[in-house]
Amino acid sequence: MVLTNSTITHLECSLTSEKFDHNLLHNLSPVSKKPLFAKYDLEKASKTLTKQSLKSRVNSMWRYIEVMPVINRENIISLGEGFTPLVHSKNLGKSLGMKNLFIKDESNNPTGSFKARGLSSAVSKAIELGQRKLTLPSAGNAAGALSAYAAAAGLKFKVFMPKDAPLPNKVECIAFGADVHLVDGYINDAGKLSIKASEDEGFFDLSTLKEPYRVEGKKTMGYEIIEQLSFTVPDVIIYPTGGGTGIVGIWKALDEMEKLNLIGSKRPRMICVQAEGCSPIVNAYKENKKYAEEIIKPKTLAAGMRVPLAVGDFLVIRSIIESGGEAITVSDEEMIESVKIISKHEGIFPAPEGGATLSAMKKLIQKKIIDLDERVVLLNTGSGYKYLDSIAEYLN
Ligand SMILES: Cc1ncc(COP(=O)(O)O)c(C=O)c1O
Repeated sequence: MVLTNSTITHLECSLTSEKFDHNLLHNLSPVSKKPLFAKYDLEKASKTLTKQSLKSRVNSMWRYIEVMPVINRENIISLGEGFTPLVHSKNLGKSLGMKNLFIKDESNNPTGSFKARGLSSAVSKAIELGQRKLTLPSAGNAAGALSAYAAAAGLKFKVFMPKDAPLPNKVECIAFGADVHLVDGYINDAGKLSIKASEDEGFFDLSTLKEPYRVEGKKTMGYEIIEQLSFTVPDVIIYPTGGGTGIVGIWKALDEMEKLNLIGSKRPRMICVQAEGCSPIVNAYKENKKYAEEIIKPKTLAAGMRVPLAVGDFLVIRSIIESGGEAITVSDEEMIESVKIISKHEGIFPAPEGGATLSAMKKLIQKKIIDLDERVVLLNTGSGYKYLDSIAEYLN
């Protein structure tokens, strides 16, 4: 066994702080039924995870190995995920009168979305904990990413997607050899079937935030943004939110980075964007509620944001409030308009979810919640190439 430098110490309930053993297999906390977070010995990690040491590390998310959960190096399944470009958006920025606009371009990941991060981490840890059969529900991109990593690891895997998931996601899953189930319903319905597969057939369920390690991969977006800004903290981060794991992960990363002495106490304002046709978290935030209410008939072409209810809703709301951020909706038409604008100005063809972040920023500038001279990071979470079927009609 070749040890990594992981400093993982235990798992902790995100609601009650109750501790659990990280050497055992977990989904949600068995007590509170809320997400579990991996905790690390950050004092120890700070000795080796330094600005200097990062200069000579691997160009993938595994460069932050001290704060990753895998203990045996042989268990890491990597296809080169992470360390995606943080593009200084000069052309678009100029057209908007902004000097400090950045796009974190996650479309450069294996399988074309940031989901690669979470699934590289979760599949690796599942293998470490003895799992060889995996399942998950997905809006599309997570299914593609699980399929790629599970195929690379030689595992057995099932994916459950709504039947209206983007065609490229269905096709890639089949190519990777997944047992694909198309569900007549929404992602929450797919989730119920994935749990049934875990109960009846012994598959380990990797539903987002319902197992502790996908968020560990996604948090590396936060580490990278800060490292790529030379260890300074931007004023605003705008994130297209479905299940919420990305925004929750970035928020977790910032907390860890302060304890690692990599940043101070400044935080970016975290902006949660959702689609007009599916905005449970925005609604709850606006109504001062701690938890969201399920959207009955969610409707948006941005499949990744078609999530009627999320188990981590309270964590997203918490990060918006603690950061002094904001929650906002945009329409599908606005997202597509922004897809075109980002493509034409920067040569990046973003997913509609990525487009949503630009639409949100423009609205918040109008409302004077974002200032033109602030440093703003837009998360383009995926590639427009994964949505060709759904956006083609809008682009004529
Ligand atoms: C391209 C894209 N953006 C955003 C999201 C939402 O991500 P999260 O679950 O981290 O909120 C998804 C989820 O499927 C996605 O595929």
